[in-house]
Parts: sequence; structure tokens; C-alpha cells
Amino acid sequence: MDGEDVPNYLDAELFILRSLCRDDAPQLAEILTNAELSQFDQVDRALAILDARMWIESAARGRAARRQMTWGIAQTAESPIIGVCDFEIDSGVAIVGFGLLPRARRRGVMSTCLATAIQHVFTHALVSRIQAEVALENRASIGLLRKFGFVDICSENSSKWTLDRCKWNLRSTALRGIDRTRATAT
Ligand SMILES: CC(C)(COP(=O)(O)OP(=O)(O)OC[C@H]1O[C@@H](n2cnc3c(N)ncnc32)[C@H](O)[C@@H]1OP(=O)(O)O)[C@@H](O)C(=O)NCCC(=O)NCCS
Repeated sequence: MDGEDVPNYLDAELFILRSLCRDDAPQLAEILTNAELSQFDQVDRALAILDARMWIESAARGRAARRQMTWGIAQTAESPIIGVCDFEIDSGVAIVGFGLLPRARRRGVMSTCLATAIQHVFTHALVSRIQAEVALENRASIGLLRKFGFVDICSENSSKWTLDRCKWNLRSTALRGIDRTRATAT
């Protein structure tokens, strides 16, 4: 990736997007496995946290190599993360991934935070489009992507989505009206 260094913090109004650190591993494990930690046994939980640590280290390497932008979503600089969004950048295209703790969902949190992250990526990384691949049955993610103006480039059995920079420039103006009052403390 050409462009600028990834900033440690982005201000997403009620939330901040910040770089991940080792201490974020327990929350990240919960986000990435998409399950409540209470459902894990001790071994599963330890393994999930180990995976999350490796994920954080890999994101830091990607960031240093300027091919990845990853942020944890939190309410303050000191509070634990409730979500994550991640952009892997290659040849002018960013592949986005995102996730929230179950308790933080359906409050407009990702709408608010992803808008800030996408704006940053399109402004500061040399990418002309952002793509996503989600499971066909993942209605929440598909709804979120549609809301952001992503269009479906899927075949029958996969769900791939793309957002061009020029489309975003138009869309972002409309999204400024997002109802952020829903995106409250969790
Ligand atoms: C996808 C996800 C990040 C959405 O975050 P969120 O903060 O709950 O989403 P928002 O509240 O901002 O909702 C944005 C839009 O997404 C859609 N949406 C969100 N949750 C939904 C649900 N449960 N069912 C249907 N649509 C949903 C709606 O279109 C919504 O717009 P609206 O509120 O104007 O109706 C969250 O559900 C999640 O973490 N899912 C698990 C992780 C995952 O599947 N990641 C994708 C792999 S890349």
C-alpha cells in the first residue's frame, strides 16, 4: 500500500477506532468466534485467545508493511474493544472485514464506525474500491453493505460486494444523516 501511515486513533463521534494491542485478545476472541465466551470450555477459550493474539500480531505486521488497516472499536481510549474493522489492501483494492460483540449489535455502531473507516481508507490509501465477501445467509452484513452502497457482484453461491470510490463520495454525503442517537453505550 502506498499512502500515509495508519493513525492510532480515528474519531467516530461516539466511538473511537484505535489500533489493537495484546490486551485486546480476549474481546477479539469473542468477536472473531462470534460466540459468547461463556459458551467456551477452558481449552476452547484459551485457544481462541491465542488465535486472537496471533491475529493482532499479524495485523501489526500488515500495518507496518502498509498493506493493512485494522482498528478496534471502543467507547474511549481506555475501554475494552467492542468490535473490529479491518482492511487488507492489495493492488488498489481493499478487502474489508468487520465484527461486533453480540451485545453491541443492532444499535447503529458499525454504521457509525465503518463510515469513518471507509472515509479514511478512501482518503488516505491509494485504493479505488473496497470489496467484501460474506456468507449468503449473513443478512446483517449484507444489510450493512447495502446501506453503504456496496453492490452485489456475486455468483449464485457466493456473496461478493464492491464499493467504488466515486460511488462512496456520493453515498457518504447521504450517510451523514445516519441516526447516531441509537449508537449509544453498550
Ligand atoms: C454485521 C454487523 C457488524 C452489523 O453491525 P451493527 O452495528 O449491528 O449494524 P447496524 O446496527 O449499524 O445496522 C446497519 C444495517 O445493517 C443491517 N442489519 C444489521 N443487523 C441486522 C440484522 N440482525 N438483520 C438484518 N439486517 C441487519 C440493517 O440494514 C441495518 O440498517 P438499519 O439499522 O438502517 O436497518 C454485526 O451484525 C456483526 O458483528 N455480525 C457478525 C460478524 C460478521 O458477520 N461479520 C461479517 C464478516 S466480514
